[in-house]
Amino acid sequence: MKIGIFDSGLGGLVITKALIQSLPEYDYLYLGDTAHLPYGEKTSGHILKYTLDSLRWLISQDCKLIIIACNTATSVALRYIQQKFIPEYAPDVKVLGVIIPTVEVALEHNHRSIGVIATEATIRSHIYRTELQKINPAVVVEEVSAPQLVPLIESNNFQYMDNIVEDYLSHFDNIDSLILGCTHYPLIKDYCRRVLPHVSIISQDELMGAKLSDYLRRHPEIDANLSQNRQRSFNVTRLMPQSSAIARRLIPQIDLRTVKLEDI
Ligand code: DGL
Repeated sequence: MKIGIFDSGLGGLVITKALIQSLPEYDYLYLGDTAHLPYGEKTSGHILKYTLDSLRWLISQDCKLIIIACNTATSVALRYIQQKFIPEYAPDVKVLGVIIPTVEVALEHNHRSIGVIATEATIRSHIYRTELQKINPAVVVEEVSAPQLVPLIESNNFQYMDNIVEDYLSHFDNIDSLILGCTHYPLIKDYCRRVLPHVSIISQDELMGAKLSDYLRRHPEIDANLSQNRQRSFNVTRLMPQSSAIARRLIPQIDLRTVKLEDI
């Protein structure tokens, strides 16, 4: 029984790498729905459909714990998945997202003003603002969508990244922390730290390992179901010419397989 990790593309490999580093003994199965990337520009209906197709495939491959590493899919689909889909389709499977763990870490700093940069769909959902203010109503949240970033990162094109990042970050007024609310953004965290040296940059690759360890410690009944043979499998729904280069930049020995979700 593996840990499944789902993302709309290859960005989730950054989170996978962090999870493997922190919990290396477990078996991991990664699925990036590259055929439908970018999710961030799609309607909620499409994002939900693609996410459910991906989850069905992960479940068919024996994943008992699934982490939706994609912020966009988490913001649109996680509530429905946890409340309706899983209880009916696979009640013995647990599905977790990345937004609540990120919000918890962001609030640990006790900062008054928090920025969020994410895809259009995530920003449109206002999920970060809602979840941050649910815990601390006094916190001020500034949200900026950055539609250019995912396509550039996914195509391994960092040529003008300094200027593009600077341009997006210039929309923030006076923030103390910045949440990088997209699985792809850990790859540009150094650019963000250069542009905003006095702001705490909250990057999901730096927090998800500790969050998953903590979750498994608190849920020994789930931990007991997970196999620990150090197996890894990395799958995408479409292999683009540049996919291997960006994937190897993240996980050097990676072997990317293409799968068809319609097969299940
Ligand atoms: N992986 C998605 C996220 O974390 C962004 C990529 C996309 O737009 O598909 O929000």
